[in-house]
Amino acid sequence: MTDPYDGRPQSWAKHEILKRYLGPFSQKVVRGLKNLQTPIDELVFVDGFAGPWDTATDDCSDSSFMIAIAELRRAHDALNASGLGIRTRVHLNEANRKAYRRLVDLVAESSDHASGFRVETTNLPFDELAAQIGPANASEFRLVFIDPKGWSGYPLACLRKLGRENTELLINFMRYHVHRFVKSSAEGETEGEDRQFSALLGEDWRDRIGTSPSGIAARDLLRERLRKDIGFRFAPVMEIGMAQREQVHFDLILATRSTVAVDLARAIEKKVMEDYEKRRIPSSQMDLFEGDPDYARDWFIRRRRDAQASFYKKLQETVDGRRRSNEFKSVCADIQEDMPLTKSAITLLLVHLADNGAVEATWKERGAKRPGDFDPVILVQNPCTPDGQSSLF
Ligand SMILES: C[S@@+](CC[C@H](N)C(=O)[O-])C[C@H]1O[C@@H](n2cnc3c(N)ncnc32)[C@H](O)[C@@H]1O
Repeated sequence: MTDPYDGRPQSWAKHEILKRYLGPFSQKVVRGLKNLQTPIDELVFVDGFAGPWDTATDDCSDSSFMIAIAELRRAHDALNASGLGIRTRVHLNEANRKAYRRLVDLVAESSDHASGFRVETTNLPFDELAAQIGPANASEFRLVFIDPKGWSGYPLACLRKLGRENTELLINFMRYHVHRFVKSSAEGETEGEDRQFSALLGEDWRDRIGTSPSGIAARDLLRERLRKDIGFRFAPVMEIGMAQREQVHFDLILATRSTVAVDLARAIEKKVMEDYEKRRIPSSQMDLFEGDPDYARDWFIRRRRDAQASFYKKLQETVDGRRRSNEFKSVCADIQEDMPLTKSAITLLLVHLADNGAVEATWKERGAKRPGDFDPVILVQNPCTPDGQSSLF
């Protein structure tokens, strides 16, 4: 069988991240939320821009919505088998009429009402969908997947409507296209798309992203809006490189309030990206690559190494003058929001810093060898070897 992702490895990365996120997301996030005063009894996945679009299989098993149905069904059965009694709803939305008709046919047999697993569809522009469904209620938990073709169709006002408590957003931010747009737009060649862009990033986006506009600056403005305007606590980014080029194609931004979700995203990113680098520059096509393939293939590994090398500085920035809790769980998630490091990598880095006298080994007070979620993270003032970690890498 031919690989349905042949020629579009970036879709493989997007789908693989979604797939790997959905199962553990249901298990970990929902399990945790079951302990709340108002327990969650329904898990909802909303695919706001479902397609089918650019698929290579007859049954569309290479589409986000088919992947979501399969993963959520598995998670649903596992949660119910363990006695958690959860209902699951998969809401698929697609604005294009022709694609919508195909979507309806493809998912016609996917619901199983007896077991509480429901698939529903709507044929609406995303902003109308957001107005119709509104925010999640107290007994449901939602993940909303926003995967448009460009940057239009998901204005900030919609995200604000949807993004209250009990909700996560996974946004495909088309960084490469945004970069080209903000560059040309800042030079005065604004297009009709300008209105859509302002709807997403705010009317003042030009002032906010400064004198050298870039896709990264625009993305980080969106992340800031997700946190400050909407109230998400974290907005980590998983960067997906372009096929055959040394360039980022798009960013998957996870807007969440959960430390567990941030670590999950980092663990999945590590698994997927190491594989992805080989897919996007296959050995057979090394000589067609624009740039240095060996260098580009190591891109994610280098990013992790850079994060490890600047970890102590980031730790200082995160801990100094901190108003939030200084428990490891909280400090770790704040660092992970900006750095592609797993919790276990950060644990090892802290142990190493403690061995070098730069961090207090608070975990030893309870006889542990490494920090646990509730151990405070305390930096030693004026340590002898503040950058002692460098020998490790
Ligand atoms: C990038 S494709 C989605 C791909 C799909 N999520 C996947 O990974 O298999 C974007 C889809 O959004 C639809 N679309 C475009 N504008 C929309 C809007 N404003 N609201 C909802 N759907 C829209 C397009 O018709 C297209 O099918």
